[in-house]
Amino acid sequence: MMFSDALSLVFLAAGAVSAAWDGSRFAWYTSDSANDIHNALPIGNGRLGAVVFGGAVEKLVLNENSVWSGPWQNRVNTKSQSAVGDIWKMLVSGSITAAGQSAMSNMAANPTSPRAYNPLVNVGMDFGHGSGMTNYTRWLDTYEGTSGVSYTYNGVTYTREYLASYPHGVLAFRLSSSDTGKLNVKLSLSRAQWVLSQEASINQSNSTGHSFSLSANSGQNTDAITFWSEARAINSGGTVTSDGKTVSITGANTVDVFFNAETSYRYSNAAAGRTELKRKLDAAVAAGYPAVRSAAVADFTNLSRRVNLNIGSSGDAGTLATPTRMSNFKKSPKADPEMITLMFNYGRHLLISSSRDTGPLSLPANLQGIWNQDYSPAWQSKYTININLEMNYWPALVTNLAETQKPVFDLLNVALPRGQAVAKTMYGCDGFVLHHNTDLWGDAAPVDKGTPYTIWPMGAAWLAFETMEHYRWTQNVTFLRETAWPILNQAATFLACRLTDWNGYSTLGPSLSPEHNFIVPSGKGLTQAGKAEGLDISIEMDNQLLRQLFTDVLTACSVLSLSNATQSTCSKAALHLPKIRPPGIASNGRIMEWRSDYSPQEPGHRHFSPLWGLYPGRDLTPSVSSTYSAAAKKLLDNRMSSGSGSTGWSRSWAINLYARLGEGDTAWGHVQALIQKFPSGNLWNSDSGPGSSFQIDGNFGVTAGIAECFLHSHDGVHLLPALPAAVAKGSVQGLVARGNFVVDMAWEGGKLVNSTVTARSGGSLALRVQNGVKFQVDDVPYAGPIQTKAGGVYRVSVV
Ligand SMILES: *[C@@H]1O[C@H](CO)[C@@H](O)[C@H](O)[C@H]1NC(C)=O
Ligand SMILES: *[C@@H]1O[C@H](CO)[C@@H](O)[C@H](O)[C@H]1NC(C)=O
Ligand SMILES: *[C@@H]1O[C@H](CO)[C@@H](O)[C@H](O)[C@H]1NC(C)=O
Ligand SMILES: *[C@@H]1O[C@H](CO)[C@@H](O)[C@H](O)[C@H]1NC(C)=O
Ligand SMILES: *[C@@H]1O[C@H](CO)[C@@H](O)[C@H](O)[C@H]1NC(C)=O
Ligand SMILES: *[C@@H]1O[C@H](CO)[C@@H](O)[C@H](O)[C@H]1NC(C)=O
Ligand SMILES: *[C@@H]1O[C@H](CO)[C@@H](O)[C@H](O)[C@H]1NC(C)=O
Repeated sequence: MMFSDALSLVFLAAGAVSAAWDGSRFAWYTSDSANDIHNALPIGNGRLGAVVFGGAVEKLVLNENSVWSGPWQNRVNTKSQSAVGDIWKMLVSGSITAAGQSAMSNMAANPTSPRAYNPLVNVGMDFGHGSGMTNYTRWLDTYEGTSGVSYTYNGVTYTREYLASYPHGVLAFRLSSSDTGKLNVKLSLSRAQWVLSQEASINQSNSTGHSFSLSANSGQNTDAITFWSEARAINSGGTVTSDGKTVSITGANTVDVFFNAETSYRYSNAAAGRTELKRKLDAAVAAGYPAVRSAAVADFTNLSRRVNLNIGSSGDAGTLATPTRMSNFKKSPKADPEMITLMFNYGRHLLISSSRDTGPLSLPANLQGIWNQDYSPAWQSKYTININLEMNYWPALVTNLAETQKPVFDLLNVALPRGQAVAKTMYGCDGFVLHHNTDLWGDAAPVDKGTPYTIWPMGAAWLAFETMEHYRWTQNVTFLRETAWPILNQAATFLACRLTDWNGYSTLGPSLSPEHNFIVPSGKGLTQAGKAEGLDISIEMDNQLLRQLFTDVLTACSVLSLSNATQSTCSKAALHLPKIRPPGIASNGRIMEWRSDYSPQEPGHRHFSPLWGLYPGRDLTPSVSSTYSAAAKKLLDNRMSSGSGSTGWSRSWAINLYARLGEGDTAWGHVQALIQKFPSGNLWNSDSGPGSSFQIDGNFGVTAGIAECFLHSHDGVHLLPALPAAVAKGSVQGLVARGNFVVDMAWEGGKLVNSTVTARSGGSLALRVQNGVKFQVDDVPYAGPIQTKAGGVYRVSVV
């Protein structure tokens, strides 16, 4: 539904709130999170994150995105370079099991894992309230990026508002009571591990606030990441005491708290880190809460309001508390279309909150964004780059948040020299390699120890595609030259070095199809028939990535006027592109995941790696190849009917794949099923159902998938390419197509009514509407691509 700025005013009184809940905008609750983070509400400013638990004794789990378990480790296996040639030969000759075993001893790294993401500190706020709270309300506003709690206790209404300010670089909280002098609160910071110091001090002149601080190391190593964190409390009314670690305020009307943390990842010494810590806090305190709030909300809404999706009103059903809506949605999804809009807006809330440009060492959203409470989080809460990190950014471009990708490019800058060193040591090659995970240091060595996942040298290639997609959407040639090209060039240099002729094809090996084993067949010269193995050569997904990479390199060479003479990568790409093995189609009509028609160990495997070229790639899409898209559909249907979509992120990939096939109803069925099966109480996507591991990728994937039903641009700008029958009427403003075209659309009765396309950069605009219906642009029948002007606005209407 439409966003209204006026709605933010309703939080003055809890009782007035319920009438105004916009079901597309708010998640809200009538009880606290019962100390379960899967019910608690996430806010963030791209660097600092907070999860608001909302109990009588408040707990906030805070994160800072550069707190990881320790320093960079050189994990590379120096035996690799002399073994890799033999491993190739073993694979070619059919000794698959022996090749896998050799790779595990000669190529897997030691230790096997990069660093783990860690929590920062918890904030405690004890109001002395215990039980007896009534009228309890807790909310998350996906439009403003704020959260709050309100309740009545002993006849007084208490309100807490939480926000994360990108402009001031701090978290800010306002605690207030409806009656003067009734607010008592004891404020503290705590951390379970490696605390170095903890202090609190009262300042009689309250202009800098009453300070409480905590600094800690991220581990016991002397070279662990160190952080300095501090909160400042400013009370209006009341008295303040401290026990040297906490600050207690009694009889106040309002207490404002500002929080910041800085780490040794970004500051070379403690003095520099502490200076920045103080600078941001001083500025926030000097500005005061109302000014910090309005700047934070202006910044956040500047991004959130760019897209407005309306897929139908839920009426009163949408104004119910979120847990009631989630339970109703399981029975009758049609009754609450705004639940889907809320998931879409929530994905954008999470992206804006966890991924911003905060300087040259910005960090992207990891597996849990910036909202993790564990010292040993699931999958180390790293950057998993065989799908998950990339999926985090699928909604960024199409939902008009291109600037949220900047941290990915910063991490690639950090990873580039690491990956060049590993390419040299492990493979004797120039160029840039990443394996299937990385950390904040850009760790490039293989990860974990298993034949279906460890030796996958394609991480840099997939991330290079993300840089090219950024260019395709934004048309920013400076970005292509300065940021994308070094990544494309180095990723292609490495892979060109690794390609070997096999059956006339430029072929990569050893590699694997992420996390999926095949059963070694008998015959065909293969030994150890019947074993489940992962390592092989000429993997289908690798070939799709290679074809895309070389195509993108050639595009960049052309746009940047790089010639064969000045850039050998241009000629290498031209040489190898026609020699990449085309997709194989098995006798059952499906795309083959491996070089031969091996049986998959898990026909319902959660990864859709061999369908990479359907989404996010383009080579298997219907308009590019009807043959391959038909074979891709056969594999996808079989994968799903065999049980895939079994994790939230897998289900959200399926949504995008069906949308690319133009199967809107199937895609929408999976949108509904995802919302029915996977979100925890706070709408976090989970791995296997409510309360299981938070995996933010699925939140981002479903947001992208919803957009993919309404707009495609991998082959011209296609309006309503996969419109679900369930969304017969609707509108969307602000989606973005490749070519930097902003698209507004309205449809009714399952048909486009009209659309406005704004050309931000100019250039050629090829348009298609739904299933090829006739349409006019500016009242002229459309007969082919239009040459647009930068800033030009083009009206599309169906005749
Ligand atoms: C709930 O809050 C509203 C507004 O603050 C107030 O009018 C009402 O009396 C409260 N109800 C209870 C049961 O405390
Ligand atoms: C108290 O505030 C004053 C004025 O801002 C400042 O100069 C002083 O350092 C503060 N004292 C403490 C103990 O924080
Ligand atoms: C600072 O303290 C004075 C006296 O207690 C109070 O009147 C004033 O509101 C406080 N300033 C802020 C910003 O809360
Ligand atoms: C809003 O975003 C635009 C870029 O799209 C930027 O130029 C402008 O400064 C932003 N305004 C605020 C208040 O952040
Ligand atoms: C284009 O890219 C460059 C380099 O990344 C960046 O500095 C600039 O802000 C971008 N321009 C726009 C309009 O976003
Ligand atoms: C660049 O090199 C490729 C292959 O190495 C070749 O096919 C192509 O013709 C060359 N282009 C030019 C302009 O020389
Ligand atoms: C569709 O046309 C109406 C009436 O001219 C106009 O108000 C509306 O903005 C148009 N919508 C879009 C998405 O172009």
